[in-house]
Amino acid sequence: MELESKLIQLLADGGFHSGSRLAGQLGVSRTTVWKTLQKLHHLYGVEIHSVKGRGYRLAQSIDLLDERKILENCQSRDRLRGLDIHQSIESTNQWLAELPQAEFSGRVCLAECQTAGRGRRGRRWVSPFGQSLYLSIGWQFNCGAAELSGLSLAAGVAVARVLDQEGVPGVGLKWPNDLLWNDRKLAGLLLEVSGEQGGPSRVVLGLGLNVSLSHSQVEEIDQPWVDLARICEHPPARNLLASRLIDSLLQLFSSFEVQGPESLVESWNRFDVYRGRAVALLLGKERIEGVHRGIDATGALLLETADGLRTFHGGEVSLRRGK
Ligand code: BTN
Repeated sequence: MELESKLIQLLADGGFHSGSRLAGQLGVSRTTVWKTLQKLHHLYGVEIHSVKGRGYRLAQSIDLLDERKILENCQSRDRLRGLDIHQSIESTNQWLAELPQAEFSGRVCLAECQTAGRGRRGRRWVSPFGQSLYLSIGWQFNCGAAELSGLSLAAGVAVARVLDQEGVPGVGLKWPNDLLWNDRKLAGLLLEVSGEQGGPSRVVLGLGLNVSLSHSQVEEIDQPWVDLARICEHPPARNLLASRLIDSLLQLFSSFEVQGPESLVESWNRFDVYRGRAVALLLGKERIEGVHRGIDATGALLLETADGLRTFHGGEVSLRRGK
């Protein structure tokens, strides 16, 4: 294991650790400890406090990702082709997308931080170290992309269900791919599809889920956000959550292949937080106002507008306040 990884493991509890004790544990000099801490800060953005006479500690404790713990709780080992955990990576979606065909389907990639995390509509996904889950899963479907409509919404339902089952109250879905809590963003999904028109299709599904963000590291997030630590007194452990999410998403992929989205409208409706509310849809430069009427069987948005009920496959929904 690299020195940086060993050091972060020693510091993960969030308590103070003296420089000389760390040096002893790692078998290096105190100067090397100090240099490695600098590296952790510059490379991964890890916030480290140094107090004279007490030593070093992380700004907040980190429940580090652990392959053994994740695999231990995974029920879907037969579908899982491999689990890769990175300390720092550009983007877990990107990493999977670049894998050779033979290693792709059923592969899961997780990272402690991303340097170029991708969000929907070309946005950046702010990805500080150890404070969220950045999880991507690759799957090859035999069908073409057109037959995969509804998959990303079904994935949102699967994630919402896992959170609900793990005791996170009040999780809702916002079309097409946001998980909200009290109108604040808790998580987002990004589905990237490539391949021939008639299939097969390579799908990379990426999930960014806020676990315990510190304000100083997420100043750039440009919308109201929330994390599990602010919702729950005892949030589920990151590794356990990762196992449950992997199980549920792999299960979804393998069943979607055979039967398509099973009762998507019904399961989506259970979590849809905007249904019946006055919204505006931004579609390029166009702004369409209406009442949100949920989704159709393909996962398209239904909007009751002045021109009647209309169906939309893309765009960004926002609430019209005071309506
Ligand atoms: C959104 O815009 O709401 C979707 C965000 C998706 C972010 C996740 S984090 C893991 C995976 N890797 C990425 O680069 N993006 C997705």
